[in-house]
Amino acid sequence: MEEDPSAVSVSASASVSPRRLAVLISGEGTNLQALINAQNTPSLPYTHIILVLSNRKHARGLTRASTANPPIPTAHLALQPFLKSHPTKTREDYDEEVARLLVRAKPDAVVCAGWMHIVSSRFLDVLKGVRVLEGEEPLGREIPIINIHPALFGQFDGAHAIERGFEAFQRGEVEELGVMVHRVVREVDRGEPLIERRVEVRKGEEMGEYEERLHKVEWEIIVEATRMVLDEVRPVGS
Ligand code: GRF
Repeated sequence: MEEDPSAVSVSASASVSPRRLAVLISGEGTNLQALINAQNTPSLPYTHIILVLSNRKHARGLTRASTANPPIPTAHLALQPFLKSHPTKTREDYDEEVARLLVRAKPDAVVCAGWMHIVSSRFLDVLKGVRVLEGEEPLGREIPIINIHPALFGQFDGAHAIERGFEAFQRGEVEELGVMVHRVVREVDRGEPLIERRVEVRKGEEMGEYEERLHKVEWEIIVEATRMVLDEVRPVGS
């Protein structure tokens, strides 16, 4: 997904503050790029990405954000260096620090766009507003969080879903494959799907060919689902 210079910009009227989106990434950031291209256009109106947070310092997505026009604020927090520099802290403490960075950015919604960590209950409780972090203000309302997953609901939960799905199809174990954007819950990739879409897959093709089709569908549904969730919490004009 490349930057789309022809994207029509819809400027927010002075009385309506734009909807604020935070995006979690770990790598290439092509789904992030789809959101960058769509922000504040008719596909994702009155919306600004206000933070891109990565768990990898050198994620290409961070460069996509910092070189966007206007530049998008970025942050990174990697698990292993965090644990090394805080020997008494745990994985859940790391999640809490990620949640803290999000809460401070005051997003209306959070999108996991290739975020390669499983989130803990402690993290989700902070975004729900049922757990207030020390030193932080209580949330006025829940911050919804969604995730893109390259499989149909319940098919191939967890990592390497594209490869596992493609191989299962080639072996004749499944008849269809697809992608979804779902709400994030404690059970990995088991939250309610907002959008689920089938992706054509052919017997005997290379996985790269299938993957290319799949990513194109991802870039569409990540924008559509983000719009859906923002419309729930901050309809345009509110
Ligand atoms: C996507 O295929 C997404 O479904 C999966 O990780 C990949 C991220 O790709 N969870 P990118 O970083 O957005 O290019």
